[in-house]
Amino acid sequence: MTRTDAMDPGWMELDTVPPLAQQEFDQIRQLAYRTFGLDLKSGKEELVSARLRRLVRSGGFHSFQEYYRHVLGDSTGEALAGMIDALATNHTSFLREPDHFQFLRQHVLPSLATRSSVEIWSAACSTGEEVWTLAFLLNEALPSRTIRIAATDISNKALKFAERALYPDHRCQGLPAEWLSRYFSPENGPPHAYRVCPRIRTQASFRRINLVKPYVGHRLFPVIFCRNVMIYFDRETQEQVVGQLAACLEPGGYLFVGHAESLTRISHALEYVRPAVYRKSETREAKWPRSS
Ligand SMILES: C[S@@+](CC[C@H](N)C(=O)[O-])C[C@H]1O[C@@H](n2cnc3c(N)ncnc32)[C@H](O)[C@@H]1O
Repeated sequence: MTRTDAMDPGWMELDTVPPLAQQEFDQIRQLAYRTFGLDLKSGKEELVSARLRRLVRSGGFHSFQEYYRHVLGDSTGEALAGMIDALATNHTSFLREPDHFQFLRQHVLPSLATRSSVEIWSAACSTGEEVWTLAFLLNEALPSRTIRIAATDISNKALKFAERALYPDHRCQGLPAEWLSRYFSPENGPPHAYRVCPRIRTQASFRRINLVKPYVGHRLFPVIFCRNVMIYFDRETQEQVVGQLAACLEPGGYLFVGHAESLTRISHALEYVRPAVYRKSETREAKWPRSS
């Protein structure tokens, strides 16, 4: 950089948006909590500012306050969806928390082997790595059955990515080589990428579900994966979410949560099986909402 470059105001874009004020943070925090359960504790001001500043600037707003008013006033819901996408954490990977898949294969899937079709729900599936991991595993463990994965998330952007099922090279690195060759086809690069094969893609269906709002479930699942989302909710919201998920489990069905999301501090009707795995009683109906 020359001295002249440094003095040229056109050399870098000036950020004229004032820093996020405490009142603006509180407004955004309340909106995020109300709409999708995100519990933004104080101390997260910098994170919120960093994640939303790009939207404030690209939308041509002069302040976080102006942006916030726009989100509230946008009746299409698009601005709110954009805010949720920016604030939610989408981090995921193939075979994440591998002992869950081992337990599923060894202890749960054998009990489903007599069925001609098996459907599992991946709730908060993010960009799909969990969905496809489950699909690969079910195809291996229960060949010649009809396999279905119901995949849901609050983020339309994540769902779109998941449904496309196209993953850059580096995101496929944790996959066993046999899975990569059996269930993916390489896409012409660069950048190098792999796409889940059409036969497996047809086994998953994608839908937007906000876990903190009431939703109507038409069917019960023998297994639900809902991992690494409740960590962002407060206790009350976790109870509500688990209650609603439990109501979507078959008697004897399993709920897998993230290892950082122990349900020991909340009240629920599920039985503890092992860390981060819970089971609905074979006999008693877990009801939602629970009667107090
Ligand atoms: C960290 S990812 C977890 C992905 C995957 N389950 C895993 O464990 O790797 C969390 C996902 O939860 C989604 N999410 C956040 N709040 C949600 C809500 N209220 N309802 C449904 N999904 C939500 C986010 O969009 C994000 O894709």
